[in-house]
Amino acid sequence: MKLCMIGTGYVGLVSGVCFSDVGNKVYCVDKDQNKIDYLKKGNVPIYEPGLEELLKKNLKQNRLIFTSNLKKAVLDSNIVFICVGTPTKKNSNSADLKNVFEVARQLKKYITKYKIIITKSTVPVTTGDQIEKILKNQKNKKLFDVVSNPEFLREGEAIRDFIYPDRVIIGTNSKKANKIMKSLYMPIIKKNSRYFNTSRRGAELIKYASNAFLATKISFINEIANLCEKTGVDIKDISLGMGSDQRIGDRFLRAGPAYGGSCFPKDTRALIDTGNKFKIDLSIVKSVVNSNEKRKILLTKKISTLLNNNLNNKIVTFLGVTFKPNTDDMREASSIPMIKYLSKKKCHIRYFDPTGKKDEFKNLKNVEYCKNIKSACLKSDLIILHTEWNDFKLLNFKKLVKKKNFKIYDMRNIYSPLKMKKLKIPYFGIGR
Ligand code: UGA
Repeated sequence: MKLCMIGTGYVGLVSGVCFSDVGNKVYCVDKDQNKIDYLKKGNVPIYEPGLEELLKKNLKQNRLIFTSNLKKAVLDSNIVFICVGTPTKKNSNSADLKNVFEVARQLKKYITKYKIIITKSTVPVTTGDQIEKILKNQKNKKLFDVVSNPEFLREGEAIRDFIYPDRVIIGTNSKKANKIMKSLYMPIIKKNSRYFNTSRRGAELIKYASNAFLATKISFINEIANLCEKTGVDIKDISLGMGSDQRIGDRFLRAGPAYGGSCFPKDTRALIDTGNKFKIDLSIVKSVVNSNEKRKILLTKKISTLLNNNLNNKIVTFLGVTFKPNTDDMREASSIPMIKYLSKKKCHIRYFDPTGKKDEFKNLKNVEYCKNIKSACLKSDLIILHTEWNDFKLLNFKKLVKKKNFKIYDMRNIYSPLKMKKLKIPYFGIGR
């Protein structure tokens, strides 16, 4: 099949590369010519394990075409995916759909034979209806179907999630579109994953409900972790004990710092906004957003307590600053408010992240990027394990810090409290 992905951000790029790998001809379109030139040379602008190899392979086989020529790409494709960003609007909770509607207005000019127009971007329920309105005119009524096909890829695991999805959701009432979509996904859904055809609005809402539910699970376990800290219980036991009940499930029950990233924070806010528009009080989602915001403050206070509320000139090391491992993404990472606060309080902050130096900290005082773990940890007062990169899982802290009386705050519960006790290192985890 011939596909066109509009937008070469995370969703468009990963999906485009993976669709080409199962034999489709895929145009990846972006208005940013520099990005297109970069991609054409086989470079990948984001950190995603396995993506560069796959991209290079499909470029070589001429199945993957990067272009800024939207017209040509759309005219030559049967299926067009809208994969542009839907960030939170300034000073509001709603998703900003201006990019999506702009693409729809452009597409209208190029619908001269039947095409399926798909939203892969995360868009609030009823957006598909609005896109249909934009696209429709007297002549092209039967020449297109607007379908919702939300993506469920996790950063850092995106290729595996694409090839082995738990489910594929296709939101359309059109039998014709559904048949074509099923054959597009056939190489993937053959491997046991479930294919659901729902209404378009249903598919749009499934995406938000899924992300909000996962965010709820995380916030729930984070609050129980707070209780564990007061009662001397280990949160890992709770996650294991609860998660073994198949009705609950053991995934997304890892306590940690506040959840971050480009999806959960933005999508929970947008869902609340949609609820408000339809006069529905999504009180659980509201509490989750609130709980997650409070968590950033709570953990920052704990850092301060660990330094005896005397932050001036203390050396604090962050190991990992991204919102999760295997990504270079800093969006809504809890390290940002923590480091900003510590910098204001005149701490000396050193950080190391396998994905390098971060712009988010470049204008902050006393924040230094270190090229390796060793230089980041030397003579530190407090080591904060913020992101669970594999690089941080087997460290000999005494050798690294070379100083007495340092403390460790393990925000991902990577290390064993017992082993730390034996080593006589003051060690603090989450919910233990
Ligand atoms: C999330 C969803 O998991 C994907 O299914 C979805 O497609 C994607 O959003 C999206 O909407 O595009 P992602 O943001 O890449 O994926 O990251 P997650 O692995 O879900 O992690 C999100 C945050 O939750 C991270 O900060 C992570 O550290 C935290 N988390 C996750 C926990 O604190 N505990 C857990 O048990 C799991």
